[in-house]
Order: sequence, then C-alpha cells, then structure tokens
Amino acid sequence: MTDPDLLASLAAAVQARPDDLTLRLHLAELLLAVDRQDDALAHLSAALAQDPADERTRALMRRALSGPETASDDPDAEPVWDGSSTAAAGSDSAGRDEVDWGAYESELRAVAPRFGTAGGHDDAADRAFDVEPSAVRLADVGGMVEVKQRLELAFLAPLRNPKLRRLYSKSLRGGLLLYGPPGCGKTFLAKALAGELGAGFLSVSAADVLDRWLGSSERNVHEVFRSARRHAPCVVFLDEVDALAVRRSKAGGAMRATVNQLLAELDGLESDNDGVFVLAATNAPWDVDTALRRPGRLDRMALVLPPDEPAREAILGYHLRGRPIADIDLGRLVAATDGFSGADLAHLCQSAAEYAMHDSLERGVARMIGPADFDRALREVRPSTGPWLEAARNTVLFANSGGEYDELAGYLKRRRLL
Ligand SMILES: Nc1ncnc2c1ncn2[C@@H]1O[C@H](COP(=O)(O)OP(=O)(O)OP(=O)(O)O)[C@@H](O)[C@H]1O
Ligand SMILES: [Mg+2]
Repeated sequence: MTDPDLLASLAAAVQARPDDLTLRLHLAELLLAVDRQDDALAHLSAALAQDPADERTRALMRRALSGPETASDDPDAEPVWDGSSTAAAGSDSAGRDEVDWGAYESELRAVAPRFGTAGGHDDAADRAFDVEPSAVRLADVGGMVEVKQRLELAFLAPLRNPKLRRLYSKSLRGGLLLYGPPGCGKTFLAKALAGELGAGFLSVSAADVLDRWLGSSERNVHEVFRSARRHAPCVVFLDEVDALAVRRSKAGGAMRATVNQLLAELDGLESDNDGVFVLAATNAPWDVDTALRRPGRLDRMALVLPPDEPAREAILGYHLRGRPIADIDLGRLVAATDGFSGADLAHLCQSAAEYAMHDSLERGVARMIGPADFDRALREVRPSTGPWLEAARNTVLFANSGGEYDELAGYLKRRRLL
C-alpha cells in the first residue's frame, strides 16, 4: 500500500516540475496502484499532451482506461456518443453529465454576440451547411497503425469514456489538427473518426466560408457551427485550415475578422456536451495562426505521413478493384511505390489503365492491364511528397524550438532527410 504522504509529496514535486515526464508517470503509476484512476488520468492526460508518442504514457493510459472503476462506470461504451448526455437540462438517470443548457446558451450568446444563437431566428441569408453521415471507419484506413493508435488514445478513448469526459471536459474541449503532405489520407482519416464517433460529418473549406462581401465570412463561420450543433453529434472538419486561418500577421482586416470568429466559435464549444467535435487538416501547419493552436482550440496535432506498405496495399487494391488486370504482383507494386501519396497511387493506376487502353485501340484487340503497363507508369508517375518533405525539413531545422514538430523530425531522420 502506498503511503498517502508519499503521494502528496510526489504530487507537490510534479507541480513544481510539470515538465518532468518520468516523475509524473511515476506518480500516475502509484495512483493507479491505489485505484485512484481519476487522479492518474489527469496526470496521464497532461503527459500525453506533452509527448503523445511516449510508450510508457500510452501503456499507463491503456491501463487507466481499462481500470476497474472506469469499466464499471462504462457498461455500454457503444455508441461512442452517449446521447443521454444531451437530454434536456438536468442529468440522466445515472446522474452523469449534468448540462445546464440555460447557462450554456447564454455563454454562447456572449461569444457570438453579433449573430445570436437563439433557435427562433432564421435569417433568409443564413446558409445551411451539409452534414453527411460517415460510413468510413478506422478499420477501412489501410496500415498507418501508429497514427491510428495515436488517434485512438488522444481523441477517441477519452470521448468514449463517459467518466473521463465528465472529469476532463475542459481539457478535452480542444480539437485535433491533422497535418502532413497532400493526398496522404487526412480527409479520409477525419471521416473515419466521424464514423467511429457515430457522428455526422460537416466538411468546410476556405472556399465555402470566404465571401467577397465584407462580414459575410464571419457569418458563414458562425453558420457552420450552428449547423453542426443542430445536427449533433457532428464532426466539423476544417479542411485546408491554413487558408481559413491565415496567420493574422499576414492577413488583411476581413480575413482577420474571420479568424477571430473561428476562435470565438472554438472557445464557445462547451466540452463535448453539445456533441460538436472539431477536426482540422492542413498541409502547412506552420501557416496556421498560432492562436488557433492554443489549449482548448486545435491543441493536438497528429502527423499523417505518406502511406506505409499496408496502406499502399489497401489503396492500390482499392484502385485496381473492378479494373481488368492480369499478372499484377501487388507486393512488387507496393515495394516500388515508397513515398507515393494516396493520390499518386490513384494516378499510377489510372496511367497504367490508359496505356493498356491506348495499346488496345492501336492494335484493335482489347487486352488486360499488365505488369508492363505498370512499369511504364512507374517511370512517369513520381512521388509528389518530395517538395512537402523539403519544406517540412526547413521548418524542423529552423522553426521547431517549441518541439511541436518532433514527430516530423523523427520521421525525417528515419528517412535520412535530416
Ligand atoms: N490508409 C489509407 N487506406 C485507404 N485509402 C487511403 C489511405 N490513405 C489515403 N487513402 C485514399 O487516398 C486518397 C487521398 O486521401 P485524402 O484525400 O484523404 O488525402 P488528404 O491528405 O486529405 O489530401 P489533401 O491534402 O490533398 O487534402 C483518398 O481517396 C483515400 O481514399
Ligand atoms: Mg484532404
């Protein structure tokens, strides 16, 4: 049995040295040993925010989440979104997740005073944004084990666990920023996360929101979140968020107002109680306004790298399905396409099909798509991730003082690009 005094001293030490991961993990482990899951989870959440890739933290987090208390409190973890917590003011039968909707509404009115949030008002100029159901699940995303594990731990597990949600509603408020080279599955992963949460998917790009009429862009941003709340549970996916949230130092007045509105909307989301989850994606995280990355906003980042072998196999398999192919060695294709993005792989399959088709037309005899077509396509289609990795390298070299791109640095080192 661990001495409570020892735990108190350790807690004080952690408070004095919040960045000492080893110390914090030691404390978390001792807390788990005396069944103080809640306290352990608080420390593990902090540790995870500090270094999401740390294996010791992940292992302890898994242990904490499967602990006896949390297990009994979470008899029906599916569906992930616990609809009961949205029930009208008050608490559900188990007394969980008390939601004071009155206070909540007034808080929202305070953050978005210009447009109001009360239900009755429906201006003719209001735009409705489409919310689609998402049928994609993480299991549909080929390979990419590491990023999937990471998303599970940093995003899905806390949301799945009602106890954790209640305890850390504040710290779970923020959204997740997926970043990486173009065409490597960020949008696909975001859809899969919506699928896992059983939530609708509302995808917004800068073009959907930016408006040539001064002031309309802010209104559009506001409408996006209003639509999402109306369709909760819902994932708001801010695609190409660097174009939507340009660093304000670089932005003109109108753009700045749009960024400010986005910040207000993010701050106005009260934990997950309104069932709106924010995901964003960008190829250029370094161009995103830093205010957007502060705690409670898009405060977690996940790197989505070019597809690894199993992912390439899944993507190639998908694009070859239904095409007339013969004698294709999928393993060889997978090995020959290191560094290719998902979009490059689609392009490769398309090119091989075109060669076979041209050939068939020339000879007047239809033939299957064969290995020679792929060899030819492989000579023409080059991986497109190179320029991105080069830009990323510069950022890691010159703008990683805060350590936010450590994961990227690790990848570049493994590939001997750094
Ligand atoms: N791991 C994977 N498993 C299966 N399909 C994948 C995988 N990764 C990507 N794809 C496929 O590759 C295509 C490109 O992915 P996606 O559009 O999600 O990339 P992106 O990172 O959002 O690109 P962009 O930066 O251009 O928006 C998608 O059609 C998706 O079906
Ligand atoms: Mg995309």
